[in-house]
Amino acid sequence: MKNAIVGVLVLLVLGVAAYVASVGGAYNGGEHGRVIADIGSKVANSKSSKTDEKDDRAKESDELNALRNKAGNVSKFDVSEDYDRKCSSCHGIDGSGFQNGKKMMGPRLFGQRADELYKKLIDFKSGRKENVVMKGLLIPLSEEDLRVLADEIGDFPARAEAAKNK
Ligand code: HEC
Repeated sequence: MKNAIVGVLVLLVLGVAAYVASVGGAYNGGEHGRVIADIGSKVANSKSSKTDEKDDRAKESDELNALRNKAGNVSKFDVSEDYDRKCSSCHGIDGSGFQNGKKMMGPRLFGQRADELYKKLIDFKSGRKENVVMKGLLIPLSEEDLRVLADEIGDFPARAEAAKNK
């Protein structure tokens, strides 16, 4: 009986010793050493992901700037009073979809061809393409008005180009 108890105790002690050895003893930082190493690697990871984010953002703003430059600046070309009054508040005075560096409600129109634009406008007006905002806006406009607007917006790149060469 006594031998059995001693045997169990010895196994217990050996077990604890094995566990401590597997975790790492006090001499190499033990559990704390691991936690600190973990935190270290997490901090390193989060730092690298932050710089990625910054790169992405820098790239994005480069692309936006390129788009904006391509679209020309607000005062660089003239638009009709109709476009100015009815469309520019959402699509930008130059159709870029930006105003003062801010993305506007409406998408970019600059660079789209007149016939694409006309088709999209007719689709909104007829309800084939659903958009409450655009449909509401286009109700008072005739197909002829849409044709004129589409032709005008389709001509924006040429106007921007002409204004640049002035
Ligand atoms: C109140 C804001 C607002 C005004 C004003 C506005 N639009 Fe829009 N427009 C939008 C929004 C929002 C969309 C995106 C709708 C969608 O794709 O579902 C859009 C989409 C369009 C599209 C389709 C673009 C694409 O590539 O899919 C065209 C073309 C367009 N508008 C032309 C015009 C014209 C021309 C005018 C002036 C008569 C005008 N818009 C006035 C908000 C506006």
